Amino acid sequence: MAAPGRNYNDVVTRFWSLAAPLYDLPFLQHWIYRPAQDEVLAQLHAHGAQRIADIACGTGILAARIADELHPEQVYGVDMSDGMLRQARARSAEVQWLKGPAEQLPFDDGALDAVVTTSAFHFFDQPAALREFHRVLRPGGLVAVATIGPPQPPLLRRLSANLSNPSHSPSPQEIRVLFADAGFTLTDQHRVRRPLWTMAVRDLITIGTRA
Ligand SMILES: C[S@@+](CC[C@H](N)C(=O)[O-])C[C@H]1O[C@@H](n2cnc3c(N)ncnc32)[C@H](O)[C@@H]1O
Repeated sequence: MAAPGRNYNDVVTRFWSLAAPLYDLPFLQHWIYRPAQDEVLAQLHAHGAQRIADIACGTGILAARIADELHPEQVYGVDMSDGMLRQARARSAEVQWLKGPAEQLPFDDGALDAVVTTSAFHFFDQPAALREFHRVLRPGGLVAVATIGPPQPPLLRRLSANLSNPSHSPSPQEIRVLFADAGFTLTDQHRVRRPLWTMAVRDLITIGTRA
């Protein structure tokens, strides 16, 4: 069965395969992406999760940190892009790297204790991805979604409404509704804590559990 938004996913996959070599630039990683990853690591540590998947793992920095810093039983990194996964595989042999879309994950029902995703949610078919996160989590399992970028202004959203599954950054309220619709209990939502001089990056973390 084809994943939802398949054509759009193909475009996103091709873009990230081309962008992969630039993605690990140290300043980009340190100032843009790392603060959200630090918060996800703290959430996973507090939850005690042992079977963890990082969805849209990109070049695998967060998944490799989860393996190195938390030493859980199993860590998976899932992404659609061959270029990003190639770099991820070179980074760590501790993580199991899998190719697939967030909307159709390669896990059995209830197989995981935690599902996390950083800086990629705006690319997803969000209701489908959250339903899939819910399916693969065990009861009590943790979901952590770190989103990046300000919500799309209403005009831009209306203009892109006719595209097939266009990239869309939801507002905090929209994310809370998406979580509830997927069956998650919201436990926390806040701006990602980051150094003052990087506050122009508007990222948000939303945490929930599967009842
Ligand atoms: C900005 S990178 C973020 C990578 C990583 N999560 C991080 O925080 O550094 C976006 C990644 O999302 C992946 N991606 C986009 N849409 C996806 C989808 N529907 N399913 C799986 N991966 C997806 C892309 O291939 C790309 O590797």
